[in-house]
Amino acid sequence: MTLLAKSLSNIKPSPTIAVSTKASELKAQGFDIISLGMGEPDFDTPENIKQAGIKAIQKGETKYTAVDGTPALKKAIIEKLKRENNLEYKSSEISVSTGAKQVIYNALIATLNPEDEVIIPAPYWVSYPDMVLLGSGVPVIAESSEKNNFKISPSELESKITKKTKWLILNSPSNPTGACYSESELRALADVLLRHSQVHILSDDIYEHLIFDNLKFSTIASVEPKLKERTLVVNGVSKSYAMTGWRIGFGAGPEKLIKAMGIIQSQSTSCPSSIGQSAAVEAYNGTQEFIKPNALLFQKRRDMVVEMLNKIDGINCNIPNGAFYVFPSCKGLYGKKTPKGQEIKNDNDFATYLLEEALVAVVPGVAFGAEGFFRISYAASDEFLHNSMQRITEACAKLK
Ligand SMILES: Cc1ncc(COP(=O)(O)O)c(C=O)c1O
Repeated sequence: MTLLAKSLSNIKPSPTIAVSTKASELKAQGFDIISLGMGEPDFDTPENIKQAGIKAIQKGETKYTAVDGTPALKKAIIEKLKRENNLEYKSSEISVSTGAKQVIYNALIATLNPEDEVIIPAPYWVSYPDMVLLGSGVPVIAESSEKNNFKISPSELESKITKKTKWLILNSPSNPTGACYSESELRALADVLLRHSQVHILSDDIYEHLIFDNLKFSTIASVEPKLKERTLVVNGVSKSYAMTGWRIGFGAGPEKLIKAMGIIQSQSTSCPSSIGQSAAVEAYNGTQEFIKPNALLFQKRRDMVVEMLNKIDGINCNIPNGAFYVFPSCKGLYGKKTPKGQEIKNDNDFATYLLEEALVAVVPGVAFGAEGFFRISYAASDEFLHNSMQRITEACAKLK
């Protein structure tokens, strides 16, 4: 008998983590590596939130909490959802977990039976397909095109729906493309979903506040209230409040689902961190004044990165409206040779070349289900970004 479960045979360790590990190894060997692979804001957690965490420790809020979140945090989340998303929930419809990642995992494990299908638009966040596989479900990839700014159309969605479809995962603004669905685009997808009552929607809104160009954030349950009863809204403090290490995320959805997610959590992690939850209360209830300036800062960085990338022969970069990633195409460099005579045949070759020649770490698109592209995270200082774009420009100029 082999030790490891069969369900693990299809699962890969997160490829974004693999790139940063390789970059760290090279760094440890003394190479001056610039990593553009990270998925977290480069600035610190705001002071008022840090202080709330410190106070929680001093007040002795250091014990197990209710399994799926403290009453205080659930209340703050309910108020946030009303204030920002015009969505109304009861406490029994909220589940707090160790990051949005655990919320998604709990939801899939709680609902998937073997052969249940989950539609995942590509390019996708690396963890979605693997989590579906861990839940014995079947990931069904709905390809989107660069031409359509990496968003799926209603007909593409419709063509993937079968009787076995249990979930559609929507992620806007998107990791890895930064694509944002407008209210009217969500409306058009909602019209398809209204015709298929077996499909539930997992709306991953984790990049909600990182949205640019005066675009308004929309989430499908508020665009079409009839879908609310089959939607799980997933969100959290990680990206909006620079709190990735505090590990607090939440799901808001039908009571039956939320209860099942709580059962899984009670038998795995018991509850999210008590201190993280107290800090998250302050994130939602305290001042929101840093949110807009942060988004503006990211927008400026996006502009600089997109402009520098589009000056490179063979690279084409769309202008994304949100998150802190760009997802340029490197297909125009295929067939070219590196100074060592190696041909660039795919995005992996290109990312490896950038790491070795430019000492810049990016993530190849294939990790996100989109061969021919690469992801750059611009959650870094202007100087750092300028420097890395310069290095990429010089390395690409050496390809003949
Ligand atoms: C699209 C998406 N969803 C969810 C998460 C997980 O967020 P958290 O850190 O709250 O678990 C991430 C983190 O990178 C993400 O990019």
